[in-house]
Amino acid sequence: MKHTIEVNGLRKVFDQNAAIKDVSFFVKPGEIFGLLGPSGSGKTTTIKILTGELGQTAGDVSVLDVNSHLFGTADFRSRIGILSDNSSLYERLTVYDNLKLFCQLYDAPLEQIDVMLDEVNLKEARSKVVSKLSKGMKQRVLLAKALIHKPELVFLDEPTSALDPGNAAHIHRGLQKLNEAGTTIFITTHDMEEATALCDRVAFLDKGEVQELGSPDTLRYKYSTHAFHVETFEDERLVIENESGNADKIRELIANGEVKSIQSDNPTLGQIFLKITGKELV
Ligand SMILES: Nc1ncnc2c1ncn2[C@@H]1O[C@H](COP(=O)(O)OP(=O)(O)O)[C@@H](O)[C@H]1O
Ligand SMILES: [Mg+2]
Repeated sequence: MKHTIEVNGLRKVFDQNAAIKDVSFFVKPGEIFGLLGPSGSGKTTTIKILTGELGQTAGDVSVLDVNSHLFGTADFRSRIGILSDNSSLYERLTVYDNLKLFCQLYDAPLEQIDVMLDEVNLKEARSKVVSKLSKGMKQRVLLAKALIHKPELVFLDEPTSALDPGNAAHIHRGLQKLNEAGTTIFITTHDMEEATALCDRVAFLDKGEVQELGSPDTLRYKYSTHAFHVETFEDERLVIENESGNADKIRELIANGEVKSIQSDNPTLGQIFLKITGKELV
């Protein structure tokens, strides 16, 4: 398999409005790939098409070497994990019994339940009825559900949007571990810090098209002014261009013990997105 996901010329029209106009990208095996965009930019629609929940209007889509017309098969569904807006739990069952049902559905060993509960930091909620859980806790049970059958590829639609920073960080570590063990991850988010911390490559989605694509580091370098921001102990802030003629200036500042901090001017992914699209990612 060359690419885990291949999307070519994808288009999706709802009631004569193109939510996705012409989108192409691929995801490599073992990558964490982030689809970033503001609300309404088509992230969820893309995930729904990639997981067979929605059909496309035009374009070629294949996932794990399976063409989109076979996304409904049990074999395909057992190879992917999904956490989306409409993932749901049985409210009147306990956390454990919910996960047990999904284990049985996918023929996964029941020992996986406690492994997953540990991963999502929910061991203490094992015997609680789902209706009594907070939104953030339910989100973590849904994540455990999406991963319980050890899929090769997982789709996560804004997985940490309902979580506090502590739990989000815990989930990030869990996803990194999962990825190190070989799972490919496709994640949508409007949280730029999350994307920067997690993703090998990101695509910026806006107006139904991919506006920019690359690794966070490559993009931050590409949109950098390549200047140094120097803060002195006198609270002066200097912007010094990265040119050979300025080497002595920087050397002198450091030699005189004047430099409190020095930083290269790499913009954040959020600043780059704003520059390209004129939109904040909220
Ligand atoms: N089932 C649907 N019927 C009609 N329009 C839809 C439907 N689903 C999504 N849309 C529209 O498609 C666009 C993209 O939505 P969505 O994929 O949910 O964006 P995001 O997940 O980036 O917030 C929005 O304008 C939304 O209103
Ligand atoms: Mg969405």
